[in-house]
Amino acid sequence: MTDATRPLLERYRPLLARGDEPFPITLGEGGTPLVHARRLGAAIGVVQLHLKFEGTNPTGSFKDRGMVLAVNRAVSSGARAVVCASTGNTSASAAAYAAAAGLPCHVILPAGKVARGKLAQALAAGARLVMVDGNFDAALTAVRRLGDEGVAVVVNSINPDRLEGQQTAAWEIVDALDRAPDALALPVGNAGNITAYWRGFRRYADAGRLRGSALPRMLGFQAEGAAPIVRGEPVDSPETIATAIRIGNPASWEGATAARDESGGLIESVTDDEILEAQRMIVQLEGVFCEPASAAGVAGVRRLASEGRIGPDETVVCVLTGHGLKDPDAVQGEEGTLTPIAADSGSIRAAMEL
Ligand code: F0G
Repeated sequence: MTDATRPLLERYRPLLARGDEPFPITLGEGGTPLVHARRLGAAIGVVQLHLKFEGTNPTGSFKDRGMVLAVNRAVSSGARAVVCASTGNTSASAAAYAAAAGLPCHVILPAGKVARGKLAQALAAGARLVMVDGNFDAALTAVRRLGDEGVAVVVNSINPDRLEGQQTAAWEIVDALDRAPDALALPVGNAGNITAYWRGFRRYADAGRLRGSALPRMLGFQAEGAAPIVRGEPVDSPETIATAIRIGNPASWEGATAARDESGGLIESVTDDEILEAQRMIVQLEGVFCEPASAAGVAGVRRLASEGRIGPDETVVCVLTGHGLKDPDAVQGEEGTLTPIAADSGSIRAAMEL
């Protein structure tokens, strides 16, 4: 099961396929690194801290794991087009897999808040973009209707194939650690991924592939300005720098609370400042560059560890859901000298403060 050179859907075919259905479309998704984050772990007091870096997927986010299954099945079912609402990553993934399948892709985006890299990806792959005057929740409502009207196959995570495919990340973590972690931390937006991970861990346990069959605590983190599950009610105008999780009424709300409750875990919120600080720590201590939303899990684990709610000996996996290059505008770093100076070593050493 751990041969990462085989296409993801073939590797996990016994757990995913209906009979001998074909999976002709693949872009090399999955098989992402699980990085033992020694320096970051030391900084926050969790020695066995691991980062599941989903930014190395073909379109730079975890969405590809479910999109590959959804688009293969859309093709098999004779779909004429696919459609999705998105805060950015789903549209980038849908556009790429639809291009590979030769299907038109329509994406409905919330006005103004989609990160630049993600927009570029969807445009480059030839998706037809429609921006709506509203947030992600309004866009998803419209897409559900388009699906009901038979305009196109919906490839948001309300399509069950998406969450089926996303379980593979949980399976890869167990395959790599040879056990489940004690806790798994991840950002929560539309709440599909936390639902898929929990389903994946349980499915592996049921299939006898989880040694000791101990399941992880699921730790979900929403951004403070977009934390409907934490508040217990939808948020009308969600706001956060982590635009990927700027969602006020998650589609998989019940899946997320079930994952939380059945696993003895939690769903809490982190502030934008905590998210940006975690994003900086991850790349400056480990060299792994993720987008802001992806850092929410690390921000949450950092807080829990500081409060003694995660023990120093626990094995914790934080899922970094998307690549930092998707959202270059969110980076706040020391820029150095970007006004050109004379190209002699004296001037340069002065600028380097050496
Ligand atoms: N992290 C990133 C980078 C995301 O793009 C998303 C969701 C999440 C976390 C949250 O995952 O929705 O399964 O709880 N992005 C969706 C999109 C909404 O349209 O790309 P979730």
